Amino acid sequence: MIYKIIQIDNLLEIQKDLTTYLPFYFKNFEICDSGFYGSDIEIIKKNCFRLKKFLIDINLLDRWNGVGISVLKNKESLNIHSDSLKKNRIFALNIPICNCNNSYTIWYQKKNLDTRPQFKYYVSESVHGICYFEYRDDDVTEIDRLDCSIPAFVNIKIPHRGISLNNKKRFLISLRFEPELTLEEIINL
Ligand SMILES: [Fe+2]
Repeated sequence: MIYKIIQIDNLLEIQKDLTTYLPFYFKNFEICDSGFYGSDIEIIKKNCFRLKKFLIDINLLDRWNGVGISVLKNKESLNIHSDSLKKNRIFALNIPICNCNNSYTIWYQKKNLDTRPQFKYYVSESVHGICYFEYRDDDVTEIDRLDCSIPAFVNIKIPHRGISLNNKKRFLISLRFEPELTLEEIINL
C-alpha cells in the first residue's frame, strides 16, 4: 500500500494549534530552509491537545514515538529516499500544517532492480541520527503522488520525496509509531 487517506474531522483546528506551535520550534520559521526537522513530541502534546485527542480516538497515542516537520520552499524538493531502514519503518501519518496544497509526496520505483541506493546517515540537529537510503533522480520513475493537503498514512519505505509548487513555504507534520503499524491495522483504520 502506498498511502491511505484518513478523515480528520477537526483538521482546521488541529492546523491552527500546529501553526501556533511552529514559532516555538523554529525561532525564525519564516526564514528556515527546506528540510525535515525532528521535533519534540512532549511539546506538541502539550500545545496541540486536539491532535493528541485525535490520536487517542484512533487508538495510536501510546504508540506515537516520533515526529518531524517537513518544510519546503516553493519549487524545492527533498532527495528521493527510503526512510530509516535500520528501524524498518514502513508507515508515517502525514498531516498538513499550512500551504500544503500544490505540494506533493511522490513515490518512485527503481528503473533497474539492481540499482543500489546510497546510504546517508544524518547527524545534523534537525534530523538527529536518522539514516536514509537515497536514490538518484535518473535511477527511478514516478509511480504515484498525493497532494499533501490531504492527511494520510504514507508508505515511507518505498522511495519517495516531497516537492512543493506552492508559492508560500509549506509545513507538514509527520508522525511515527512504535511498534510499527501493520498493513492490516492501516486498512482497518
Ligand atoms: Fe521520508
